[in-house]
Amino acid sequence: MAAGHLLAGRVAIVSGGGGEIGGAISSLFAHEGAKVFVLDISKEKAQATVDAIAADGGEAMAFSADITDPEQARGAVEACVAHFGKLTNLLNIAAALTPAGSVETLSLEDWNRAFAVNVTGGFLMCKYAIPQMRKAGGGAIVNIASSHAHIGVPKRPAYCASKGAVLQLTKVLAIDHAGDGIRVNSISPGAIDTLRAALQRFPSREAANAAKGPSYLLGRTGQAREIADGALYLCSDLSSFVTGTDLLIDGGYLAFKGSLTHPA
Ligand SMILES: NC(=O)c1ccc[n+]([C@@H]2O[C@H](COP(=O)([O-])OP(=O)(O)OC[C@H]3O[C@@H](n4cnc5c(N)ncnc54)[C@H](O)[C@@H]3O)[C@@H](O)[C@H]2O)c1
Repeated sequence: MAAGHLLAGRVAIVSGGGGEIGGAISSLFAHEGAKVFVLDISKEKAQATVDAIAADGGEAMAFSADITDPEQARGAVEACVAHFGKLTNLLNIAAALTPAGSVETLSLEDWNRAFAVNVTGGFLMCKYAIPQMRKAGGGAIVNIASSHAHIGVPKRPAYCASKGAVLQLTKVLAIDHAGDGIRVNSISPGAIDTLRAALQRFPSREAANAAKGPSYLLGRTGQAREIADGALYLCSDLSSFVTGTDLLIDGGYLAFKGSLTHPA
């Protein structure tokens, strides 16, 4: 596919950029002209994303950091600006893997880790990125929430509560930084065909997609690229009048789920 230019001149940090959705976002952003700082707790996974971007002719840098650590989050932003000269976009994609369990069975450690990565990690990245984005004349932030931020899901108290917090954090960030020229939005994906999502309850991706697909109005689970397309919209000038909102990319899951509880 020919390279685009929707993000020409932009520099983006993608946390969780070594993961499947973060990798798809990083690749699409580089393809559209952004310089991408691929941040992941796993250096190997970040490097794999950067290698794919380089093969496509894009520009990216791999960086290993744990976003729950304030010094590592600050260091990542500093390294990005030192390498690329500025920062215009931040995508908070990283999330903890949290086992299923009610509040009775979920450990405090797993609860705390979910909030540390899913909420505090995003808070810290914003804390250090926003001054740089202001210096660059503005930009856009995207936080990844989930369809599970909108509904209760059995045995997922930490995931649902932490993703709900991401929705609210997004709104307040949008309010506080509109005057800086920084737009802040979230994306709520439905089930996306990734290993992480599959292996939480199913033996394989195929089994997960077969079981989950019928719950979606569009009859299937989503692809990481479909989340990347939403992130591209929210970080490009195509969404210049959009801030403080949540973009549901869920194949109609929430609309459909609601209908299941109300027989015609
Ligand atoms: N896959 C889905 O069905 C789905 C649905 C809704 C929302 N989401 C959200 O999308 C995002 C990406 O999901 P994915 O399926 O691509 O998962 P993934 O596991 O492939 O990617 C997550 C990445 O985050 C990294 N990471 C974890 N903790 C980190 C930390 N402390 N510091 C830095 N990096 C860290 C991991 O190494 C991994 O590469 C998550 O926020 C997830 O909650 C996914």
